[in-house]
Parts: sequence; C-alpha cells; structure tokens
Amino acid sequence: MKKRKNSGFFCLILLLEISIASLACGGGDDDSSNLPPNRIGKSINYVSNMPGIKVDTKKVREIIYPLFTVPAIIKKGENLSVKVDTGGLVPSNWSVTLTSIDGSPVTFSRTLNVIGISSGSSYWRTSSTIYEVLVDIPADILSALYDITVSYNTSSGMISDTQPHSVCVVDEYNKDFSFVHLTDMHVGSPRNNLDSTEVNEAGFWSPDKFRRWLYIQKTIREVNLLKPDFVVITGDIVFGQLNPLEYVYEYEEIYRVLKEFKVPVYIVPGNHDCYAQDAMITDGQLYWTNYFGPRYFSFNYGPYAHFTGADSFDWDKSDRAGAELLVKTWGGQIREAQMSWIRSDLETNSYNRMPVFTGMTNS
Ligand SMILES: [Fe+2]
Repeated sequence: MKKRKNSGFFCLILLLEISIASLACGGGDDDSSNLPPNRIGKSINYVSNMPGIKVDTKKVREIIYPLFTVPAIIKKGENLSVKVDTGGLVPSNWSVTLTSIDGSPVTFSRTLNVIGISSGSSYWRTSSTIYEVLVDIPADILSALYDITVSYNTSSGMISDTQPHSVCVVDEYNKDFSFVHLTDMHVGSPRNNLDSTEVNEAGFWSPDKFRRWLYIQKTIREVNLLKPDFVVITGDIVFGQLNPLEYVYEYEEIYRVLKEFKVPVYIVPGNHDCYAQDAMITDGQLYWTNYFGPRYFSFNYGPYAHFTGADSFDWDKSDRAGAELLVKTWGGQIREAQMSWIRSDLETNSYNRMPVFTGMTNS
C-alpha cells in the first residue's frame, strides 16, 4: 500500500474526488428527514448542539510548528525543531511530549530529549519571543501519528500547549510516496438542500454530531483505510456565507471532523474559509489563523519532495466582505507579500519534485 507508482496516486486523487462528490449525493444512512425544513442551512442549528462554544476559540496558541494543519513527517532518529511563541514570557525547563492520538490501538506518551534551545522567527506570527526547541525523535518509538505537547515554566506559572496530529513518525520515507488530494468539503453548506433525499444521505444538519456531514466522514474513513503518506486539502472546508456566526460553529465543526483523519493532513484556505461577514465584524481569515495558523506554508516529504501551499484568496478585509449571498469577490489572487515568500521558498529549496498547491476560488 505504501509503495505506489505516481500514475497510481493520480488515479487515487481522481477516484477520491469522484468519491467525495458521489458521497455528497448518495449512499448515506442518516435520518435528517425528521428535521423541519427551516433547520436546513441555518447556522442557528448548532446553537443547541454546541452550547458552550466561545467566539474567541483559539487552537493555535504557543506552538506555531508543527501544527495540526502543518504537521511534521519525520524519521526515527532524526531531530525535530519545534517552534514556540512564548508571548513575551521568559521560558525555562522545557518539556516536549508525544502522545498517541485519540483512537490509537496503543496509547502512550513519550517525553523527548531536548537537545537545544535557540531564538527563532516566523513569517506569519509577529513576536519577539519565538524559540526553536530541538528534540530527538527516539529510534525505538512506535511509527505513528502523535499529538505534541510543549510545556515550560514562566514567571506566570507553567504554560502547556498541545497540537493534535502534528507529528508523524516513520521508519523510512517512501521514495514512491502517495498522498490524497481532497477539496471543497464545505461544512455548513446548504447546497443540495432542496432534495430531501440528498440532505438525508449527506447527513446535513443531523442533530447527532457523529452523523453530520457523512460524505466527509465516509471519505475520511476511506482515506484512513488507504493509509496514504499524507493528505492535502485545498480549502473551502467551511461555507461561511449565509448567516451571522456561521464561522463560530463551522470552524469548530470542521476541526472536530478533521481530527478523524489518522494520517497527517496539510490544509490551505479557500474563499469560503476567509469571508469578512456581518459588515466585516466576523473575519474568516482571523478564524483561520486562530484554528489552523498560517494561510500559506511549505513542507518537505523527507528528501523526496518539497510541497508549497498557497492562499489563493489573498485580499484585504474590505475585499473579502460578504453578506448572505452577496460577496464582493470570490475570485482568486496572490499578492506580492505572499508571492515573494513563495518565490523565496522555491528558490531556497532544491528537490526533484516541488509541487505548489492552492484552492481554486471560483465557486
Ligand atoms: Fe468551493
């Protein structure tokens, strides 16, 4: 399964894209038919399901690499540089731990050997207190996907932060590696809601959170069975276009759903993830940063490839304005600041395979 020719994984990409489309239109067993029609496509559906949700939820805090959406795939015995923003505090007594992800067949934690601390910087997080914490990945650790937890002491007490699914330890990098490309999951989309069969089968707005968005959940289950080396998602993971407060619920919902992946996942935003709604009060781009971190980034798959992910909805907040069905633009662009970062990223890395991926913001 791991060693697959290139032509194979292009077929796989195609099949998965067909699969996600077909599952959206059929093949489910949810029973949303009991829901009154006015529940379909309304963000208020979530209010009773997520009573404690906060509008300022922040998943990316002190750890700024590796992340849930920018994980590190690393070989046993190599060193990993963990990047941490202490927010102005002076840290001491660093501790870095890998913990098996929820649902792992074997559960355990392993504290890593810290071999160096140095000051660092970030192209997407402005801070004067960014640290690079260099750790050993033990040669005898189980090859698996892990949550990472970083703890350190400060004058304000001990700080601890975790990024789920952010470190994937492998025995070897596969020269003929495989990845799955998924796109436009659109949690929260009211599309197809005129056909009750499709609504039912796709699990739209089921009051049971484990039965909502079945087309995504089924795709994730297929991907987990295929066990690709990683997954790339090119945006539009939420809908965020019709009602105030949609992002509050949709980001929380997609974050929960994405954690069902058992393989590393890299994600860039699409237009639907970054609209500035409610007369520009609710900023999807801010939600992206709070939940997932950078809007563009790059990563290496061992010595075999360098991937660069771009944000194709790169506009000022006023240009990203949207209210109900009226949005100022859904077209794509990449501006100079990002483009110069991409140019520099491509110039400073030299690999045989250097794909660039981004969402197509035309829908
Ligand atoms: Fe889309």
